[in-house]
Amino acid sequence: MTFSSVNNIVLASGNPGKIREIQAILEDHPIVPQSAFNVVDVEETGTTFVENAILKARNAALRCKLPAIADDSGLVVDALDGAPGVISARYAGVGASDQDNLDKLLLELKGVPDELRTARFICVMVFMEHADDPCPVIAQGVWEGRILDHAVGENGFGYDPVFWVPEQGCASAELSATVKNSLSHRGKALKSLTELIKAKEAA
Ligand code: IMP
Repeated sequence: MTFSSVNNIVLASGNPGKIREIQAILEDHPIVPQSAFNVVDVEETGTTFVENAILKARNAALRCKLPAIADDSGLVVDALDGAPGVISARYAGVGASDQDNLDKLLLELKGVPDELRTARFICVMVFMEHADDPCPVIAQGVWEGRILDHAVGENGFGYDPVFWVPEQGCASAELSATVKNSLSHRGKALKSLTELIKAKEAA
């Protein structure tokens, strides 16, 4: 099997924001979200992005009988000792909305001065040929920025409205999808993942 010959790759995510971004970057490889197969999200019991990404990819490959890509990502804030980290999607509790999580983050950082609001998005992407794949391909991407004290912009998802992007002088939620994908943790991880898959195939 080669990556480029695979017609369908299942994406182990139901997050519409992520699906949009990943499909835009992998333009020539059709991906099918696991929701199309009625796959429910696996419980994220890992303590690292790598463990959770493998859990998600394995679950999707098992349920759909297809090669799978999974992403586990989150926001790491220095002033909060790395929180929300691997629990970024449920920072304000299980079932929390993006708005709930963002409100909690702003509250936790209330009064923290600008220079101490450094943070980064981290993304781990995993590709598994099948559920028993003993050698998943793993790539990581990091995007450095800072947390604003209020939300701005309408684009993206999650914490994008409070993530200041120094190289663009605006919040991530003010970037176009194309610019975000060219800079983001997810864009970098996916580029690296495709290169690693090609190198593995050529070896
Ligand atoms: P998970 O990878 O599905 O566990 O969730 C990752 C969570 O991290 C998302 O629900 C968002 O809250 C946050 N996150 C990850 N990537 C981004 C991004 O590109 N922009 C904004 N928030 C993000």
